[in-house]
Amino acid sequence: MPGVEEFRVLDINSTWLGVGVEELMENAGRAVAEVLGERTDLEGRRVLVLCGTGNNGGDGLVAARYLLEAGARVSVVLLGEPKSDAARGNLAKLRRLGVKVRRSFERLDAEIVVDALLGTGVRGEVREPYRRAIEAINGSRAFKVSVDVPSGLNERGEGYCVAADLVVTFHAPKPGLERFPTVVVDIGIPQEASRCVGPGDVVVRLPKRRREAHKGEHGRVLVVGGSAEYHGAPLLSARAALRSGVDLVYLAVPEVNFEVTRGFSPEFIVRKYPGERFSARAIPEVEPLLEKVDSVVLGPGLGVVEETLEAVVEFLNLCQKPCVVDADAIKALRDRLPLKGARLVLTPHAGEFYALTGERLPQEPEARAEAAAEWASELGAVLLVKGSVDVIASPDGEVRLNRTGNPAMTAGGTGDVLSGIVAGLIARGMRRFDAACCAAFINGYAGDLLTEERRSLTALELADAIPHAIKDIFERFGRI
Ligand SMILES: NC(=O)c1ccc[n+]([C@@H]2O[C@H](COP(=O)([O-])OP(=O)(O)OC[C@H]3O[C@@H](n4cnc5c(N)ncnc54)[C@H](OP(=O)(O)O)[C@@H]3O)[C@@H](O)[C@H]2O)c1
Repeated sequence: MPGVEEFRVLDINSTWLGVGVEELMENAGRAVAEVLGERTDLEGRRVLVLCGTGNNGGDGLVAARYLLEAGARVSVVLLGEPKSDAARGNLAKLRRLGVKVRRSFERLDAEIVVDALLGTGVRGEVREPYRRAIEAINGSRAFKVSVDVPSGLNERGEGYCVAADLVVTFHAPKPGLERFPTVVVDIGIPQEASRCVGPGDVVVRLPKRRREAHKGEHGRVLVVGGSAEYHGAPLLSARAALRSGVDLVYLAVPEVNFEVTRGFSPEFIVRKYPGERFSARAIPEVEPLLEKVDSVVLGPGLGVVEETLEAVVEFLNLCQKPCVVDADAIKALRDRLPLKGARLVLTPHAGEFYALTGERLPQEPEARAEAAAEWASELGAVLLVKGSVDVIASPDGEVRLNRTGNPAMTAGGTGDVLSGIVAGLIARGMRRFDAACCAAFINGYAGDLLTEERRSLTALELADAIPHAIKDIFERFGRI
């Protein structure tokens, strides 16, 4: 059963898809009145609607309006000032209909009580005046209908709460509702809100920074890559990891690239291994770095020389840290997965997916999602299949699509940026699947922000746009 965080993700993603809080609140409140109306004749019945200051209370204010329309004698108590514009708007509508809204109550005198005090936003022990209100409801003989959840029931499905005779819950059951007679109603949250990654995933799941945080707490990433032919790819991954908010990035590169890599920026700690490319000789130099970091990117710019591909497998067999395997390194893993104990995220495009699995991906996103899900389970790795619609799949059967991004992102190096973000978000403490989902969304969102202003972009610009993208997402969607 999804937890309350999941419902907040859905609310935000729903708004992003054009079905906003006002519309959901209207549908929710109307559904409560309709369910009640199906069970009893509301004409002339004395109904008391008890509302809190959050959106659960807003749903109650809407329900009051529809109950009034159904002929009930409705009184409304609101325990404070509504916090959202949507709830304030519904309070104004009720007042325009001549409904007096009281701020407290002495006795609970009604045949039906609609409990819209606290919904999924409850945090910790219930405080006054809510506790007293819940006690009053429980002491009354009225028929008790709770909106979404019995007030007081927390995200684990525990806590002192309204002893509801009926719960009208929205979209999907919540923890603890199995103890109450419950009706689940559809309030118009689009299917895409859960099928696709959206800003809700980022707002809810990106770890918050503590004010008193110390250096290193926001994660350390190691990027291993490059060859005599390609020096830039690992730098792009490293830059993106840093821009996704980690504290430190280590770069391990072949000695031919050491000076150019070190000269690029003072932001990285650069280490070298012998030769022109990654090989068995590199492993003793790179392995000690693993204990300094929280996640790894392996692959950008490695090239496909046989000794490199063999070293990739050898390295992954000893790497205990979550590892994002990108680009050429993916090709080394054909017929080698699953690797025992490895915690991998593979980020293939369709061609690399073919090199990995021998299977051509279908074009259509849903069919692609099905194939990716099967392979994620088969390979024991999170897959982020890049495309005009990205597919993210976990070995446990989770699958999401991502639709951010645009054709300007075919510029070289944007894939390296993406793998850097994935590793960065893992290092900041996210689950591999969530990190892959959010990275795909943020990467595409950053690309979309850039192309609002111009017609093309470079991978370095994309990496540098990541913090702006994250800020924009929080500013636009963080308060929903
Ligand atoms: N998008 C939508 O419109 C939509 C979609 C689906 C469902 N919903 C409805 O919205 C509800 C969630 O709304 P919401 O996030 O605004 O939260 P809420 O469940 O309405 O609760 C938030 C309010 O409760 C107070 N509160 C939290 N913990 C408390 C405690 N322990 N004791 C006393 N008061 C406490 C908060 O005050 P403080 O801030 O002072 O703590 C805040 O005013 C759902 O349950 C559902 O009914 C809305």
